[in-house]
Amino acid sequence: RDAVAPFNVLMELDKGVLEPTDHTKRRHLSDMHGMYLEEPDEAAGDALVYTVHEIVVPESPDHIQCSTTILQPGRVGREFFMTKGHFHEVRGRSEVYLGLRGEGRLVMATEGGDHAVEHIVPGSVSYVPGGWAHRSVNIGSELLVFFAAYVGDAGHDYATIEDEGLPVLLTDAPDGPRVERNPRY
Ligand code: F6R
Ligand code: ZN
Repeated sequence: RDAVAPFNVLMELDKGVLEPTDHTKRRHLSDMHGMYLEEPDEAAGDALVYTVHEIVVPESPDHIQCSTTILQPGRVGREFFMTKGHFHEVRGRSEVYLGLRGEGRLVMATEGGDHAVEHIVPGSVSYVPGGWAHRSVNIGSELLVFFAAYVGDAGHDYATIEDEGLPVLLTDAPDGPRVERNPRY
């Protein structure tokens, strides 16, 4: 058993910043090449899309990985800024998302092609069962911030959905955010 002493981390609820944080990763448009239907405008440069702050604990099922995600508002073509999305490498591993700020959607899908879309708002608790790929989308005009907790050895499989994506897309339509079939899926 990996011994970890009890500890506390303080979160700035509206910013998602963890103090102290063990690890921070940033994803820019260039990290998401080919994941949007359209290529980003050159004027957008290599914009920051999201930041993840992680509390690092051993990758074992005895532990629970915790992180916050801060998704910037924005669009590429008609699609809203989103995370890359992934299955857990250990497919059965589940996850919980707690919404802290902003307005988003959590798009989930199984390898069999079933899909589900839930809301992320301050106070929303979303349960992502094992076997469901998940991607969060910022449909608002401010930051989307959420906290995630998942089984320690879950791991991340980005490759399976990298090329085709998920069955549906979240697009900015004149009457509001729209869930559209993904033509590439
Ligand atoms: C962890 C998890 C989240 C995401 C984060 C960034 O299993 O689901 O903490 O890792 O929101 O999204 P990805 O990992 O898809 O780049
Ligand atoms: Zn996950």
